[in-house]
Amino acid sequence: MTTYTYGNKEQPSDALLLLVNKQQLQQLKQGAPIVGTALDQHILSMFENEQFSAKANQVAVIATLGLINERYLLLAAYSEEDGADGLRELFAAIAKQVKSLRLASLSLSLNNAELETSLSTQGVHHSVQAMIEGLQLALYERTVMKKEDQKFYNLQALNFVLNDSQLANVAMYEAAVNEAEHMVQSVKLARDLTNMSGNDLTPERLTFYAEQLADELELDIEVLDEWTLAEENMGALLGVGQGSVNPPRMIVIHYEGDPSSDEKWGLVGKGITFDTGGISLKPAANMEEMISDMGGAAAVLGALRAIASMKLAVNVVVVIPTAENMPSDRALKPGDVITTMSGYTVEIVNTDAEGRLVLADGMTTAIKRGATKLVDVATLTGAVLVALGTEATGAITNDEQLMQQVIAASTRSGERVWQFPAYDEYKKLIRSDVADLKNSGGRHGGTITGGLFVGHFAQGKPWVHLDIAGTAFLSNSRKWETKGATGVMVRTLYQLISEND
Ligand code: BES
Ligand code: MN
Ligand code: ZN
Repeated sequence: MTTYTYGNKEQPSDALLLLVNKQQLQQLKQGAPIVGTALDQHILSMFENEQFSAKANQVAVIATLGLINERYLLLAAYSEEDGADGLRELFAAIAKQVKSLRLASLSLSLNNAELETSLSTQGVHHSVQAMIEGLQLALYERTVMKKEDQKFYNLQALNFVLNDSQLANVAMYEAAVNEAEHMVQSVKLARDLTNMSGNDLTPERLTFYAEQLADELELDIEVLDEWTLAEENMGALLGVGQGSVNPPRMIVIHYEGDPSSDEKWGLVGKGITFDTGGISLKPAANMEEMISDMGGAAAVLGALRAIASMKLAVNVVVVIPTAENMPSDRALKPGDVITTMSGYTVEIVNTDAEGRLVLADGMTTAIKRGATKLVDVATLTGAVLVALGTEATGAITNDEQLMQQVIAASTRSGERVWQFPAYDEYKKLIRSDVADLKNSGGRHGGTITGGLFVGHFAQGKPWVHLDIAGTAFLSNSRKWETKGATGVMVRTLYQLISEND
């Protein structure tokens, strides 16, 4: 963890971080100082020789050789037009330098008249929150399982250098940092869970982590084991789980932040701890990435952590149907017909379309526990990767107003969400001759039919489906997202629920 301090003098630090724009560099030519030492000459020559032109996300590292107290000066290119998104991205670029220099401490100077005006027009809280989120999320390191102990990098101290008027408002800076740190810890929780291998994270182990979180947050948790699932007629979750020696679980966590309200958010996360495809076995190539098939569950747990630790005045029920999708002599087979908790029956045509099955019982469970509006989050379809690549989460809804709230929240978080149409005609693709529904509509409109299958269990309540199959797990890092699990949608869900309480 990082300790944050706020003062009007530079604390002794390993490096000083200054945000500069093109205009300041031009004014430097006319003699307006940036650092106020001989370093300014160096900065000017870097600018004139196009080594530092202040283009987007550029960060220059300058050794200060005793000219100032800090051993390094980091110059980062700031441009007001890029807003909070730009700051989050810039601070992710700064994080790369901070980490490669293995800095223990950093002074961030916001004590500059022009920057001060610019940040206050943008909103100081949002700006500072974006800076800390970008920096800390990009510093995340995946836990590895090597023989030798892992040495995690940690930025021990971050010192804000503020002027007197900024210091008079220090509570605002502290609040922004506090909220950012809660977001960061919550996203990290989601990333850590999603990065865990399938042998470490079975449905029972995921349940253990959920219990641990509920315990920390002092929240009520229900865990439904396979016997209770049978009593509750959860044929879909049981069906998906029946092929594995690791039994399925339904996890339900309650957060009551506003007892006076009848409204309750239902957050339902797909918790397939490993997806082999079952009898409709997946090809071997990249199957190891299916450790991330509980990314939806991780996202709703992360969001819950953020909501509960920020003590939002809202009611939330988090529901996680969790199972391991395995082929075996007792696994579901194509042609099987199962009965979901809602009473609707489903013809299994592809055992690899298991996410929508467990979500069906998850949706019914959330409604039974009082959810009045629902958001499900799931690594549901490969088709969303075909449509959107890894650039956006796909969305489907039965309620335009709720959808617009989700999109507005995602604009704030910088996590892109793109809505697909949900025309009634698509529903024909998942009609079955022998049951109410079949679990796959084939290749055409795969993300849409997958989403609409889940929506069939919304009982007419406002509902949004978020397909994170393309965004939950990356093969390369980008911006503030590190390679592997991203924890995507944690911040968007938090934003959604905090803005619409
Ligand atoms: N977990 C997968 C979807 C997925 C694919 C997630 C790639 C992340 C990366 C899901 O359970 C699945 O297998 N979906 C099938 C559905 C099809 C059989 C209708 C798919 O997308 O092929
Ligand atoms: Mn599957
Ligand atoms: Zn899956």
